[in-house]
This record gives sequence, structure tokens and C-alpha cells, in this order.
Amino acid sequence: MEVVIVEDSHTGSRLVGGAIAQLLTDKPEAVLGLATGSTPLGVYDDLARRHEQDDLSFAKARGFALDEYVGLPRNHPESYRSVLQREIVGRVNFAPDAVQSPNGWAEDIPAACAEYEAAIRAAGGIDLQLLGVGTDGHIGFNEPTSSLASLTRVKSLTEQTRIDNARFFDDDVSAVPHHVVTQGVGTIRRARHPVLLAWGEGKADAVAATVEGPVSAMVPSSALQLIEHATVVVDEGAASKLRLRDYYQTVYTNKPDWQGL
Ligand code: F6R
Repeated sequence: MEVVIVEDSHTGSRLVGGAIAQLLTDKPEAVLGLATGSTPLGVYDDLARRHEQDDLSFAKARGFALDEYVGLPRNHPESYRSVLQREIVGRVNFAPDAVQSPNGWAEDIPAACAEYEAAIRAAGGIDLQLLGVGTDGHIGFNEPTSSLASLTRVKSLTEQTRIDNARFFDDDVSAVPHHVVTQGVGTIRRARHPVLLAWGEGKADAVAATVEGPVSAMVPSSALQLIEHATVVVDEGAASKLRLRDYYQTVYTNKPDWQGL
């Protein structure tokens, strides 16, 4: 796993935006895994800017959202489908229907989850999966004790995650759904290059457990240790509890440019 410590979230977002732009240049039909929450918003701003200013094209690319709430109206402003439309899909030139989300509205949710897995496989798998991390180490909405082999399925949010996400619902925890449909840890592990981002001291414990803790279902993000090419991009606050912080910085400073992220 590579750990990149950046000065601030702006620098980190531009770095990751640059890696996605390079991927789309090398492979215009790349498949992107798209996270929501506040962490990737700077990356989406950076990609929208590159689309606008540098003609970065998403015309042949595909996208798969990580997760979706169950129980919100489809066009609710905080449904992850709406969030992705607002923050990235509607700001660049993806082809119509090139970005799919897990179907939190399906009558038969298990069947919809199986279809989602099949759609990811049919697209050739995810090339670059953007990830945030919960304060409890969740990735996607795989809460602690999620199987590290799990695939897309329905999950219940922990009370902590519902409290963390209440800020998107006018600070009303009761408005945060209890259930979600999420790519599983096993789904995320199939991505060719997961890139986990974390900003701020509030994520420092989760980042330390992700990178330096044991691989454990209690910290689903620690499953990234099992992936051949995984990158963790963190600002100084999120890096503040890493024991080998200086080592990661030395490695990154001396990394040859041609390796990219
Ligand atoms: C969002 C997602 C979650 C968030 C995590 C962090 O699609 O899958 O794992 O990445 O809850 O949320 P923020 O970025 O809001 O701190």
C-alpha cells in the first residue's frame, strides 16, 4: 500500500484528479468507482475544471457508485444518485446512463444487488475506485464486522455513521436512513486501483487502523492491505497517528515520476 501525505485536501484532490485524468488519457473507456460524502468533492471539482479547461473527456468512460441509501425518494437531494449527478456526472460529459448506482429502490433488492455486480463485471471491472473512510473504518457502507469477501448487498448503518451523516440532513439524525445498499468489501477488493482519501484529524484513528493495523473485519478499510495496488492519500491531520509517517514521506518524495500514483 502506498501512503501519500499531502499538505492539505486541496493538494490531495488535485493529485488524485491528475491521476484520474491520466487514466482517462491512457484508457478513455476506463471504469471509475465513485464515492460520495464530503471527502471526494474536491476531486470532483478538480475533474470538472479539467473537463472545462483542458477538454478532459469522460465520453467513453463508465462509472459505478459505491453505495446508495434505502428509503429516500429517488430525487431526494441527498440520495447518492442525486449527489453524484450534482457533483460530477452533470458537470462533465459522461454518456447518458454511463454512470450506474446500486438500486436502493428495487422491489427485489437482492436481485438488484446481483445485477449490479454483474454490470460491474460486464464493464470489465473497476479501474480506479475512489473511497472515503468512515470514522469507524467503513468503506462504502461496509460497517465493522462486514465480511471482507462481501459483495453488493443491503446493510444497516451504525448509530455513529448516522450521527456523522446527519450534517447532510439538517443535523437531524432521525432523517438519516437506517439502511443502504453498498458495494461489498469483496467488490472493492476487485477494483484494480482503490484510492482512499481522508482529510482532517477526525479520520486519524481510522487511517492508522487502515494502514498499520491488523487486517480485520472490525476495520473494513484494512482490507486495502490485501490489494496489490492501493493508494491512501491523506492530509497532515489524517496522517497524524501514523507511526511510519516519515517513512511514507521519504518514499513518496523519492518516487520516480513515471510511476504516477
Ligand atoms: C460514501 C461512502 C462512505 C464515505 C464515508 C466518509 O459513498 O461510501 O464510506 O466515504 O462515510 O464520509 P465523508 O467523506 O463524508 O467523511
